[in-house]
Amino acid sequence: MRPVSCCLHAMQAGDVEAVLAIEQRAYEFPWSRGNFIDSLSACYLAQVLRSADGTLLGYFLAMQGVAELHLLNITVLPECQGQGLARLMLDALQTLARAHGCEQIWLEVRQGNERARRVYARYGFAEVGLRRAYYPAAEGRREDAVLMSLRLAESAA
Ligand SMILES: CC(C)(COP(=O)(O)OP(=O)(O)OC[C@H]1O[C@@H](n2cnc3c(N)ncnc32)[C@H](O)[C@@H]1OP(=O)(O)O)[C@@H](O)C(=O)NCCC(=O)NCCS
Repeated sequence: MRPVSCCLHAMQAGDVEAVLAIEQRAYEFPWSRGNFIDSLSACYLAQVLRSADGTLLGYFLAMQGVAELHLLNITVLPECQGQGLARLMLDALQTLARAHGCEQIWLEVRQGNERARRVYARYGFAEVGLRRAYYPAAEGRREDAVLMSLRLAESAA
């Protein structure tokens, strides 16, 4: 079911428990509570998406560099995936990036995360590199990351 209306807000320390609950359901290797708290302490760009009744539907966090943003985490509540919510958050991220004078957005995604890779590719991100053994994987193995980039000058304003 698609939420009737939803709204993005800056992520606050008080959101972390609800964010963590989604994170732990969405990933085999989730971020820790400390990862989120450190990101907020570092003043990373972090927003939560809530439905009109206040339900947390998703969130994203990004780190600003020189004329670029690095998307660190974007996650949608599992039962609300496939409804365009990632696209909605990517639009917000792109608006923030432009407002901060950024020319490019970077992200890493697990090579095996075909769904996310497809969402990013359809949004306009290009696969520009590979980071070997970047992520932890099952049984002590490692998984490569695909490095993706969205050049803002080339994407629709
Ligand atoms: C990857 C992830 C963020 C994508 O979020 P999402 O909200 O499902 O993505 P969207 O709905 O915007 O797009 C997904 C699909 O739904 C389709 N869609 C968009 N609007 C839709 C709508 N109103 N109704 C039905 N489907 C819709 C999109 O076209 C897209 O289809 P495609 O994959 O065939 O291109 C989400 O699956 C997720 O949180 N996964 C777990 C965490 C994760 O892997 N994060 C990324 C780490 S790099």
